[in-house]
Amino acid sequence: MTDKIDLEKYKKKKRTFAGNTRDYRTQCEIISDKEEAIKYLVEFIKDESLSEKIKNILNDEVPDYFWINPSSSSGKYHPSDERGKFGLVLHTCRVVKIVDDLCVAAQITGSNREELIAAAILHDSFKYDLPPGNHHTVKLHCIIPGEQLSISDRINQSIRTHDGQWGIPDEWQYADEYQQLLHYADYIASRSYVHIRIP
Ligand SMILES: [Fe+2]
Repeated sequence: MTDKIDLEKYKKKKRTFAGNTRDYRTQCEIISDKEEAIKYLVEFIKDESLSEKIKNILNDEVPDYFWINPSSSSGKYHPSDERGKFGLVLHTCRVVKIVDDLCVAAQITGSNREELIAAAILHDSFKYDLPPGNHHTVKLHCIIPGEQLSISDRINQSIRTHDGQWGIPDEWQYADEYQQLLHYADYIASRSYVHIRIP
């Protein structure tokens, strides 16, 4: 009788483990393949010309380290699976997913939504400074995209304020509620207890 019970427990554990392994592999395939990651991100943008524009920026203008580095250089914040290789891409996918959902909840539509999603995609694109990048993240990463990339003022403004009170002093006063929403999404995604599955 005892053996039977133990066997059932083992089978259950095996199933759970197999499920986790499968999920992990799916996630890794997306975030470790630049093309797959870009496809996943730009599909959130419904406006075709903006989607194409952001796709080109991701392909050609975002630093190479963006596709490899962890999301946190200190290791203090962010979920554990973002503290290693491909962490920054994984974090970006998560922020975009949260913003997409918050737009539904807050009834943000049209160009307001599209530009907010684009800002979410690019918000940490220069997190480790200009290429080839530093060993540590830099506070200036909020303003570098606006200087380096050809993006609209609204996308730029949302990126500039995405670090909220931890951003550049005098920069983080939000011009509108959309900017605040990106900061909240980024903040939530950086909590160590938040593990959002991608895709
Ligand atoms: Fe971020």
